[in-house]
Amino acid sequence: MNLQDNFRKAMRSYIYSVSVMSNVDENKKFSAITVSSVTSVSLDPPSLLVCINKSAGIHNSIKEGSSFCINLLNKNQEDISNLCSSFKTEGDRFNSGDWDLNGTPFLKSAQANIFCTVDELISYHTHTIVIGHVTNSLSDEKINTLTYVDGSYE
Ligand SMILES: Cc1cc2nc3c(=O)[nH]c(=O)nc-3n(C[C@H](O)[C@H](O)[C@H](O)COP(=O)(O)O)c2cc1C
Repeated sequence: MNLQDNFRKAMRSYIYSVSVMSNVDENKKFSAITVSSVTSVSLDPPSLLVCINKSAGIHNSIKEGSSFCINLLNKNQEDISNLCSSFKTEGDRFNSGDWDLNGTPFLKSAQANIFCTVDELISYHTHTIVIGHVTNSLSDEKINTLTYVDGSYE
């Protein structure tokens, strides 16, 4: 196996939490994408990062100062993860799940919702690293987070 194959194999053995990043642009176009690359950056200021492929539908709507929500999914929301990670379903992503579409879209029944404004965008080859300044967060008491390992949900 070459370096990239070995790297992919190693990364597939991580256990990821599955989130959906959601936003709405100035033309009222709603976007959502399944992401596993969410990591907290600091508590002061409260901040996180997420890595977005430049070819993803949501990518060009992510601008400095714009708002987005990271919706951490629970184990009953595998269907939403599938909807938001298949190019065939781009038009259907807000038809399933209890989305609140007033303002920045967020999934009301998610495990957690972390609301952010884009603080910094860092271009790195195929991806943009999005640094979000956290403006609000909500979370369920009981932890039932959807996880993903070796290509399958757990
Ligand atoms: C569990 C899981 C995690 C993912 N994590 C990311 C991620 O962190 N960043 C990313 O750009 N794409 C990620 N993807 C891929 C995108 O969800 C997928 O390519 C999506 O279809 C791109 O959006 P689009 O169809 O609107 O272009 C992930 C997919 C899955 C199933």
